[in-house]
Amino acid sequence: MTLRLARTVLAAVLPFLALPPAVAQEPVKVGLILPMTGPFASTGRQVEAGARLYWNQHCQTVAGRPVELIVRDDAAEAASSRRLAQELVVRERVHVLAGFGLTPLAFSAAPVATQSKTPMVVMAAATSSITEKSPYIVRSSFTLPQVAAPMGEWAAANGLKRVVTLVTDYAPGLDAEAWFKKTFEAGGGAVVESLRAPLQNPDFSAFLQRVRDAKPDALFVFVPSGVGSSLMKQFETRGLKEAGIKLIATGDVTDDDILNDMGPAARDTITTHHYSAAHESPENKAYVEAFGAANGGARPNFMSIGGYDGMRLICAALEQTKGNTDGDALLAAMKGMQWESPRGPVAIDPDTRDIVQSVYVRRVEERDGQLYNVEFDRFDKVADPGKAN
Ligand code: PHB
Repeated sequence: MTLRLARTVLAAVLPFLALPPAVAQEPVKVGLILPMTGPFASTGRQVEAGARLYWNQHCQTVAGRPVELIVRDDAAEAASSRRLAQELVVRERVHVLAGFGLTPLAFSAAPVATQSKTPMVVMAAATSSITEKSPYIVRSSFTLPQVAAPMGEWAAANGLKRVVTLVTDYAPGLDAEAWFKKTFEAGGGAVVESLRAPLQNPDFSAFLQRVRDAKPDALFVFVPSGVGSSLMKQFETRGLKEAGIKLIATGDVTDDDILNDMGPAARDTITTHHYSAAHESPENKAYVEAFGAANGGARPNFMSIGGYDGMRLICAALEQTKGNTDGDALLAAMKGMQWESPRGPVAIDPDTRDIVQSVYVRRVEERDGQLYNVEFDRFDKVADPGKAN
């Protein structure tokens, strides 16, 4: 055998010697833990649909390995999130944990990620401190300080002087309340009252009566995705709109999933958020169309984009590691990653593992007979302000 032939033969067989075919074909497993039933099922549905869409389009195999999605329903029960995370890691041997529809659910599962050194991609939950609960957490959604701080700044700069805040009484609500107040008061405004409604079965009527009596220029609201409709209806029936009190909010309230059903009461609400189905870009037009086609015409909301981009983050990291699923290698690949999302340009802050993104100011308007969050102003490259202090 000539040396040249020997080299050719060696080159042909070497990849198989280094990596037996059986190992090369082993699937990469991603465990999605989401509230698929119960009061927050719309979050689970949207996140799963977003993640599946990206997987279908781009990620059924990566670096020669098939990618498997395993979905588990925690029904928004924190104890279930932790148990399911443990089961997925120990029994199913998943390489990545993902999903996490509400803050208490992400808090509960975080120790499992740390102990097993498994990357945990938080696709929905949005309390600032979540990424501090494990060095293996990376977030593809947003944080409440990231969207509430721009709202306070915008409100002060646009002539609002006296505002009452009303938030759901748990961690993301407290983040929204604190960061709206901080920037609104720094801009010269005053928060005259801070109200908190319970997470379970909230009845907003008594709170809204108090707001009416206080006669502020505006009411600032945060409620989690899915809860905005009842708030909006009562805002109108309690006569706040009629009394000239403006409604300003984080985009969780005018969630694209339910906005159309809110009817005219929602019109003119001003919100700040990182995603609108009406965002004007070729990437988003393609996303909205593909999402609708795959989901019976449904409109994607901000939860879906956390799932879509979270799946992209996982797949891009796997590509970078050439299919190596070691937790530390995947984390290193995710840190600093940037891409053009349907929501606009995004990046993973390598220090905080939070997402840096544009935050848009939007007004609810009718377009082609449907209600949309129409963007009219923008804050660029917003990092989570909750980490800086
Ligand atoms: C959360 O629990 O972190 C959460 C849930 C829904 C939202 C925002 C934050 O819309």
